[in-house]
Amino acid sequence: MTAHIIDGKLFAENLRGRIAGHVERLKTEHGITPGLAVVIVGTDPASQVYVTNKAKQTAEVGMNSFKHELPGDVPEAELLALVHQLNADPAVHGILVQMPVPKHIDPNKVIEAIDPMKDVDSFTPANVGKVQIGLPGPVSCTPLGCLMLLRDHLGKLEGKNAVIIGRSNLVGKPMMQLLLRDNCTVTVAHSRTENLPEVVRQADIVVAAVGRPQMVKGDWLKAGAVVIDVGINRVPAPEKGEGKTRLVGDVDFASAAEVAGAITPVPGGVGPMTIACLLANTITTASLINGLVPPSDLTA
Ligand code: GUN
Repeated sequence: MTAHIIDGKLFAENLRGRIAGHVERLKTEHGITPGLAVVIVGTDPASQVYVTNKAKQTAEVGMNSFKHELPGDVPEAELLALVHQLNADPAVHGILVQMPVPKHIDPNKVIEAIDPMKDVDSFTPANVGKVQIGLPGPVSCTPLGCLMLLRDHLGKLEGKNAVIIGRSNLVGKPMMQLLLRDNCTVTVAHSRTENLPEVVRQADIVVAAVGRPQMVKGDWLKAGAVVIDVGINRVPAPEKGEGKTRLVGDVDFASAAEVAGAITPVPGGVGPMTIACLLANTITTASLINGLVPPSDLTA
């Protein structure tokens, strides 16, 4: 069997099209132009690429984009002051501080400084709690993107056995909440899980978010499983020339595609969904801040 390839790039394009429609409606019917502020500290090249893409796509759907670049040695207090300024700015409906921040800054302090109403990452304790009990609000971007792809491919997720590999606050834990809300039976596996291949073999749905290149092999999978690969790992690619690299996921795509029913590729799977869901969350927060019901097609 050869798996169906889930095209996250195409899904994200369509999602951005729907988002542009919601932006237009907010502007014409309510006089609101959603605004997203992105803060980057330092000059990490990967973070720079992400932030540039975020700003470009924000503008493309018709939202206001505010980019703040701070030097890598900026005092923590100065970053917190900027967050407070953005909290108070009525033109800003979403605030994202690109992680990781430099070591001298406490990421938890930064997260706790963000107004939960503007927390488009859904990192604040208030929003983590809302996701857990099912109240409306922003949902962590990458898990939301994974959920949209799964619902699109499978229809109902109810009763499915889902195994998440990885227990991070960014992906594993919020993914667990979302799949539980969709009535999956959820197992969260991690680096200390015993007999991991055996555990994964029980899954109808596998979400791999461990950050280890090509760890999940085809013979770990149940035939027909749906595999969502969250990993973005850069590995050496000497075949492309000396010093060259390529991107691979946490799943060994070639062997997995022989066994899975469907699989997301890397690149072109989950990655493009994350930024699209950031824009979706900005519509959600802009709606809630203005006392409007957020569009149901943009959230969990
Ligand atoms: N760094 C890598 N991914 C993310 C993300 O989704 N949000 C933030 N704030 N930083 C990140």
